[in-house]
Amino acid sequence: MIKLTKSTFLNEQETRKKLAQFISQANFLSMGRECLKFEKSFAKKQKRRYAAMVSNGSMANLILIQALLNLGKLKKGDRIGVSALTWATNVMPVIQLGLKPVALDCELETLNISANILKKIRKKIKALFLTNVLGFSDQINQVKRWCGERGVMLLEDNCESLGSRMNGKLLGNFGIASTFSFFVGHHLSTIEGGMICTNNAELHQMICLTRAHGWDRNLTRFQQKAIRRKNKIVPFFARYTFYDLAFNARPTEINGFIGNLQIKYWDEIVKKRENNFRIFQKIIQANPDLLELKVDHLEKISNFAMPVVCKNKKLFQKYKKKFEVNNVEIRPVIAGNITRQPFYRKYLKNTQPCKNVDFIHTNGFYFPNNPELTRQEIGLLSRLISRQ
Ligand SMILES: Cc1ncc(COP(=O)(O)O)c(C=O)c1O
Repeated sequence: MIKLTKSTFLNEQETRKKLAQFISQANFLSMGRECLKFEKSFAKKQKRRYAAMVSNGSMANLILIQALLNLGKLKKGDRIGVSALTWATNVMPVIQLGLKPVALDCELETLNISANILKKIRKKIKALFLTNVLGFSDQINQVKRWCGERGVMLLEDNCESLGSRMNGKLLGNFGIASTFSFFVGHHLSTIEGGMICTNNAELHQMICLTRAHGWDRNLTRFQQKAIRRKNKIVPFFARYTFYDLAFNARPTEINGFIGNLQIKYWDEIVKKRENNFRIFQKIIQANPDLLELKVDHLEKISNFAMPVVCKNKKLFQKYKKKFEVNNVEIRPVIAGNITRQPFYRKYLKNTQPCKNVDFIHTNGFYFPNNPELTRQEIGLLSRLISRQ
């Protein structure tokens, strides 16, 4: 069987051995030095000024939205554009925190939101929480420009696209902030884990506060002094003072330690995923049963899993069966059309139709692309997506 995820980490045995040793010797296992070190290395590699590690990608999304509410950059009731082709916990925080998601269609050729799609929005949105789907994006610089010209705040859910690059810039660096997931099967795994990146000092400070109870313990000395002075907090109460609405979404040192081991493989992981993608892409291009992805605008394609979109339902059934009888794990393309999910229909009525996302929902699936695929497995997967 070819499963979506082969192992918990790249270089599993070595990582597990080092992890066991770390756990047996470490004095502290709650968030501390290892997490801080991982944040610093991640920010450097991602080319962002700040990075805050959290317990997972879903909490990264929730914390980011809460932090923006705390700062008054978003207000309850604001309309937030989201990708209709996304993961549930990209949209859920928007609903949970009292904002209104506006689900937007994608381009069939890129699986992502484009400036053309944005032009069709009739009622103003305050922010766009864009999902960079499966390691791809549309012309994200045009999306950024569209947002900039209208004062729409651009946020990126980059949980599926670590390492992809366009116009010399990594995905996750186009918006004012971006989120990442390190759950098993993602590009980097820390078992569970997530990150929020930004270049904005004020937002980063609020993210650190919102990540842990709303207290100031994870702020810099300088920030602590300032916030205590502003709120007239005396030293005795400082450790138990809660400044704004928050959660507890801290990672542990275990996650931070693994992050520090795995980040060394970033380039290797991205390269292998891209090489596999290019092989599959060529075969899909030559198969008239399947829709071709347009990716020439991307310089680096750090594919998360390989999408197959068939031209009709009958072909979908045919290819789905081919994978199933050959024991290859396949899944819907992320959560399909998110507006068709029970949770979405429960809380939101009268959603706009998303024709292309519906098409992908009905005629698409994805199959494994990970850095540990063997040549033999790549051969089998290639045969399954070819026409014969
Ligand atoms: C686009 C997107 N956002 C958020 C998440 C949630 O990440 P996590 O599983 O770390 O909570 C995922 C998970 O796969 C995802 O694909």
